[in-house]
Amino acid sequence: MDYDFYSKSLVNWYKEHRRDLPWRRSSDPYIIWISEIILQQTRVAQGLDYFNRFIARFPDVRALATASEDEVLRYWQGLGYYSRARNLLEAARTICRDFGGIFPRTYNEVRSLKGIGDYTAAAIVSFAYDLPYPVLDGNVYRVLARLFALSTPIDSTRGKKEFAELAGLLLDKEHPGLHNQAIMELGALQCVPRQPDCSLCPLMDRCMAYAAGEVSVYPVKQQKLKTRPRYFHYLHIVCGNDTYIQRREGKDIWQGLYQLPLIETDAPTDFAKLQQTDAFRRLLPDCGRMEISVVLRDIKHVLSHQTLYASFYYIKVEREGKFLSEYLRIPLSCLENYAFPRLILRYFQATANC
Ligand code: ADE
Repeated sequence: MDYDFYSKSLVNWYKEHRRDLPWRRSSDPYIIWISEIILQQTRVAQGLDYFNRFIARFPDVRALATASEDEVLRYWQGLGYYSRARNLLEAARTICRDFGGIFPRTYNEVRSLKGIGDYTAAAIVSFAYDLPYPVLDGNVYRVLARLFALSTPIDSTRGKKEFAELAGLLLDKEHPGLHNQAIMELGALQCVPRQPDCSLCPLMDRCMAYAAGEVSVYPVKQQKLKTRPRYFHYLHIVCGNDTYIQRREGKDIWQGLYQLPLIETDAPTDFAKLQQTDAFRRLLPDCGRMEISVVLRDIKHVLSHQTLYASFYYIKVEREGKFLSEYLRIPLSCLENYAFPRLILRYFQATANC
């Protein structure tokens, strides 16, 4: 098959339609790495702000490697999947310790760093060093599935293998960086998930899904995972001008972030019932008079494997009871010095003007 045609068309289209993005003006692998990890979390429009702030504070590997986890998490705050930020820090420290502070130059070395998978390693070494590794992200899967009407599920082992082989065949080995950027950009701007305008596509004549009138069928995915519901009750306890927070130590996606005192229940629970639980009584047994208001109820927050339903209660207490001393007591005005999950930030934002 004449694979050259695909790459030439893609690259010609890319030269005309590409977005001018800061990380595309650089061949510094550090800059490319940071942009790729941010873009795994968010869209370009929101990612730009995070990227600019992150690079201004941590302009190179050494600046990142010597930062504290708390500070890195603050720059990541709101993006979600905080393990990505912790992995960035760990990988930066590995580069300083094991590679003399110089970003590694081979695919295998880059791939060995914490938090860098096949996609990110291929993106870094092809964009920064023009090494011939094909990228496969969600955009590329969609473009390939449609172009070749490939119905193997993209989230199956067999699908991953077939798509990787195809991406390797299509790759322009002379200009892998440009080719990879082009196919990703086509997926991001033209071959979009819903209702693409195929009449504008440079590969319309070669697209097997288009020819069959089945563009919307591809890419095919296996069954969706069922998500588990969880019920969270956050207590925003205020004593004088202070409040109480806690660092999450458990090994989950919010590890290292801060939170308000939290009670989890097995089922939806209203405030009257919550007050009768042991957890609530234990937390606030001897705090004198309390003024309580339910500020937000059953905020839905969807994560990859769980759906959280969170309620927030504002509780003004007369004095600090003995169990509250297990929490970090901080002035209300200092909340912004700590990194919180987006769910809790939504509460702070909702109540900022109250
Ligand atoms: N999404 C993932 N990587 C990207 C990049 N380098 N440019 C634009 N969007 C992207």
